Amino acid sequence: MAIQFDETNLLARMVGAADGVTVEELASTERLASAALAGVKALTDGGTIGFPNLPKDTDLANQIVAHSAKAQGSYDTVCLVGIGGSALGAWALDCALRGPHPVQGDHSTTKPRLVILDNVDPEFVHLALLSMKPKKTLVVVIAKSGATAETVATFLIVRAWLEAGVGAKAVRSRVIVVTSEGRGDLKVLATNEGYTTFHIPENVGGRFSVLSAVGLVPAALIGVDILGLLRGAARMTTIAWKSDLAANLPLRAALFQYLALTRKGKTIQVAFPYANRLWGTAFWFRQLWAESLGKAKNRSGEIVHVGQTPVAALGTTDQHSQVQLYMEGPNDKVFTFWSVKKPSQVGAIPVERTGLEGFDYLTGQSLAKLLDAECKSTQAALTENQRPNCLFTLDRVDAEHIGMFFQLLEFETAFAGEMLNINAFDQEGVELGKKFTFGLMGRKGFSDFKKRYASYETRRTS
Ligand code: PA5
Repeated sequence: MAIQFDETNLLARMVGAADGVTVEELASTERLASAALAGVKALTDGGTIGFPNLPKDTDLANQIVAHSAKAQGSYDTVCLVGIGGSALGAWALDCALRGPHPVQGDHSTTKPRLVILDNVDPEFVHLALLSMKPKKTLVVVIAKSGATAETVATFLIVRAWLEAGVGAKAVRSRVIVVTSEGRGDLKVLATNEGYTTFHIPENVGGRFSVLSAVGLVPAALIGVDILGLLRGAARMTTIAWKSDLAANLPLRAALFQYLALTRKGKTIQVAFPYANRLWGTAFWFRQLWAESLGKAKNRSGEIVHVGQTPVAALGTTDQHSQVQLYMEGPNDKVFTFWSVKKPSQVGAIPVERTGLEGFDYLTGQSLAKLLDAECKSTQAALTENQRPNCLFTLDRVDAEHIGMFFQLLEFETAFAGEMLNINAFDQEGVELGKKFTFGLMGRKGFSDFKKRYASYETRRTS
């Protein structure tokens, strides 16, 4: 298998029974795992959720490939306007397959550039527009609801910028829309203006949509092998439907996270990639895990306020920033390391003797070996301090492995949701804030929320 999961350091025999999973706990929850598998299968077969079937849709992928082939040569920048599940997957793909980009760097530097406009920070949007040329930019606007305020507002600005640069007529050929088929104002606009449009299946939620047109359209435009992504994801789907817990990697990973949260009080999961290429994926995963599993009510309607807070930390960078807390602070975290067996570069350290002891032991070795040693050492040190941790190892970072990894994490999330007896596929918790924003921005039908916001302000000042 091209991705492995090593749970040894989650076991009680490694970190003690207070923090690690015991053999009895595992044995007593095997049936829960089987029920979770059956639950996700039933939701899939009944059509309630669609992400498991996305890898099969090679017709859509071929259409997208054909469309991007036609557009090739006419752009040097793809400007993605979208937010949350409509943006993070594309960023993760860009970072993994054309990166790595500097952690705190500018947008993608690989050509064609991918510029993602998500946060509605006016300074950020202004600078991004200055960095692009309208005649050389394709705009992809993505919103499943077709009405997300951030996306709509930014798109209006980008569209005006495009029109000023290429003229009203040419705008049509430079905008691609990804949205729901039968609803939403973005769909209406796309039809009225004649924009090329790809649809998002109704049963695929934003954070599970990276392998739908949401991720595939921008990915194909920047040259990612999207059929390879789907091949990898299809392979993981086969694994995820296996009934044998030992062979079903996402189910096993979900069960361990479930036990870490519910039996050991590990309310925080640190996703800890030791590869800059996986940094975008860590941010994509944060949304997937947080929005899917952070819920007030369980399926029976009882108030549970459940969830595990996902945190992203980067390899040796965060060893020098977060690990002190991880080793000695509250023992409320479970660590999931992500490592890559065969990075595309080894970073050979020249054989050059300096006569200095602090330098010479490293000469003739490599950055890959050092990174691996640091990852192993951090795991060992955490384990010695009774901090449970586990490891995903990807053989390589290429389209197939990334497709596999996305699908693994999506299945793991779906299974964990079933184990927690919550609906992992809604996001009621983000709705109220959205409605207040609509009220404050004067959207028709939301004046009650404007009033409700005013009463909140009164309470604050009284
Ligand atoms: O996962 C989700 O459903 C959300 O995070 C959405 O992706 C996000 O709110 C953006 O929604 P939309 O695609 O409708 O603009």
